[in-house]
Amino acid sequence: MYLKRKKKQLTILILDSGVGGLSIFHEVKQKLPNANYIYVFDNEAFPYGTKPKLFIINRIIKIINAISKKHLFNMIIIACNTASILSLAILRKYFSYPIIGVTPAIKLAVKLTHSRFIGLLATESTIQSNYIHKLINKYAQFCQIIPFSAPELVNLAEAKLHGEKISLFMLRNIFYVWLQNNNNIKIDTIILGCTHFPLLRREIELVLPTSITIIDSHQALAKQAYWLATKYICLNKQIQL
Ligand code: DGL
Repeated sequence: MYLKRKKKQLTILILDSGVGGLSIFHEVKQKLPNANYIYVFDNEAFPYGTKPKLFIINRIIKIINAISKKHLFNMIIIACNTASILSLAILRKYFSYPIIGVTPAIKLAVKLTHSRFIGLLATESTIQSNYIHKLINKYAQFCQIIPFSAPELVNLAEAKLHGEKISLFMLRNIFYVWLQNNNNIKIDTIILGCTHFPLLRREIELVLPTSITIIDSHQALAKQAYWLATKYICLNKQIQL
């Protein structure tokens, strides 16, 4: 007798230092509504943006190992720009799971900008990373990328998701000095290069000039997750969406 094997359900592990990865989760869930999700808030090590590379790598390896002892999952999303940039290459060597991550949308910004002045909002680690320098040299050599590391914004996003009201006055001040110092009029595109920032998108839009286009990489990542799930994981491993 032939017994048809029951397919297992697609389960995706999503990881961030805090609430930032929820912005990725919402985007991915729209594309893969029937998948199961495990979300890790690494609150103990928050924030990642000021921690050394080795710390982040070891931390994430430890978390993935710990979760894998308790739960089955078939895909990992590092829903943090800082952690993706610092650890993705090593994680892919270390684990056999398909692992994807998120990085600032430099290529898209270059496509969209007219002024060729692009703001990059990200953590200090992301801004200082070799990865970002290489990306800029490769795709944005004819643009000026104006970085802005804003740990206050990461904290504000955490506060918002914990129910606090965001002060637009404070937010305006955070941006004011940066824009004043950096060719205020010329920046026409801003990259949200930290997954916490899209959680403040509405507030950020209220305090920035309307002429500035604000972008992130979330849709691109969700597409990548969908592609990986449908064309690779679910086809090869008898897993159901
Ligand atoms: N959400 C993380 C990112 O995308 C950073 C937040 C933190 O510093 O922990 O870079």
